[in-house]
Amino acid sequence: MAKQQPNLMDNIVSLCKRKGFVFQASEIYGGIGNTYDYGPLGVELLRRVKDAWWGRVVTERSDVVGLDSAIIQHPDVWVTSGHVGGFSDPMVDCKKCKARFRADKIEDASCPEKPSKRPGECAGELTEPREFNLMFKTNVGPVEGSGSVAYLRPETAQGIFLNFKNVLDSARIKPPFGIAQIGKSFRNEITPGNFVFRTREFEQAEMEFFVPPGEDQKWFEFWVRERFQWYTDYGINPDALRLRVHDKKELAHYAKATTDVEYLYPFGWGELEGIANRGDFDLSRHSEASGTKLVYFDQETKEKYTPWVIEPAGGINRMALTFLIDAYEEEQLEKDTRVVLHFHPRIAPTTVAIFPLVKKEGMPEKAHEIEAELRRARLSVQYDEKGAIGRRYRRQDEVGTPFCVTVDGQTLADDVVTVRERDSMEQVTLAVGELVPWILEAMGHWKRPERSPKSKD
Ligand code: GAP
Repeated sequence: MAKQQPNLMDNIVSLCKRKGFVFQASEIYGGIGNTYDYGPLGVELLRRVKDAWWGRVVTERSDVVGLDSAIIQHPDVWVTSGHVGGFSDPMVDCKKCKARFRADKIEDASCPEKPSKRPGECAGELTEPREFNLMFKTNVGPVEGSGSVAYLRPETAQGIFLNFKNVLDSARIKPPFGIAQIGKSFRNEITPGNFVFRTREFEQAEMEFFVPPGEDQKWFEFWVRERFQWYTDYGINPDALRLRVHDKKELAHYAKATTDVEYLYPFGWGELEGIANRGDFDLSRHSEASGTKLVYFDQETKEKYTPWVIEPAGGINRMALTFLIDAYEEEQLEKDTRVVLHFHPRIAPTTVAIFPLVKKEGMPEKAHEIEAELRRARLSVQYDEKGAIGRRYRRQDEVGTPFCVTVDGQTLADDVVTVRERDSMEQVTLAVGELVPWILEAMGHWKRPERSPKSKD
């Protein structure tokens, strides 16, 4: 079974701040609820997650193309999609402390008035549940009024449906095919977020896969399997992952079927990604409302049909959090404990750290020379010359750097370096000229390590 360490979440939140992964947004003004900024390592982590997703869902496939649609679309889009009418949570308000809670998640909520803990314990009366729309409203143009209301998109998917015909007409592609998009979405979430698990602005990675009617079940099963596999290929513990099928009552208004990939977070099982069979709901609704026929005409069979849609939809920030939690280990060594992030090398924010053994005898200069070579190979590198080598290793372990390269007297004499691998802590000696190919090869062969006590270092 997956690990559940006490204080795991607190330790991860503290590491994220200390090492520059994630900061509270507007911190110097006291912060703003459920909103975070990503620091130098956090932004690299997000970038790796996006590259890994795009690489697998788009670049490796001949049947998926990309899109980057606008965040603010015509307001009618959200009427047609059902978001204006139905994208809401039932909320209750406390008449005394004025806090607002999600009625369906009230058991997880806490009352802001201390010392009370649970909603209503401040002796306030809770109102009857009312529907609260999650979309952020804004105004477009210089005049504020009902005629200028627009919405920040709550999902990237609709931009894909709106461009179905444009892509079909321009990309020489036919069903089954997909359109993928990564971009920001916005939801006025009310419930506490568990750090970056649930935030008000977040990035989504969504792909709408358009298939001939009748092929939907086959492709639905394919994408459920494929998305689960992607997480384990990038090192997530399969014992901490499960698939959960939505029951009929739980399905979103557009969905014929949905299966979630769930992860065992320190706060319990939670949705990491959803794979939905959206049927022909979106294309049919937008065809009807816009007057533009969003259909496919097969030149060979002379058949015209509205494709059905299979949608894998995940959150990039939630994926990044999952990679962080899953990678985190406080590893018991013989003499002490090391904090280490066992990221897949393609997910790790820094790939290689380079250290001169001492700050003299030409070692820093040689280390900078090798650093430049690694950077030219588009590897993400950190140079560190401060403190004992053992301490420098530990600093890199804590941020998940898979390879540390040390430049010493032998490097100056024979052009060889020592490479220390993060998970095994084993060291090898390599010619400088072999370094880049060796690292690229090792990145490809990485395996999730067993989490057992080790005695090296
Ligand atoms: N187009 C379908 C759709 O948007 P969703 O289940 O609402 O489906 C898909 O969202 C994914 O987006 C979720 O599985 C989750 O990873 C991410 N997500 C949704 N709301 C989020 C939030 N408030 N903060 C962070 N990620 C969120």
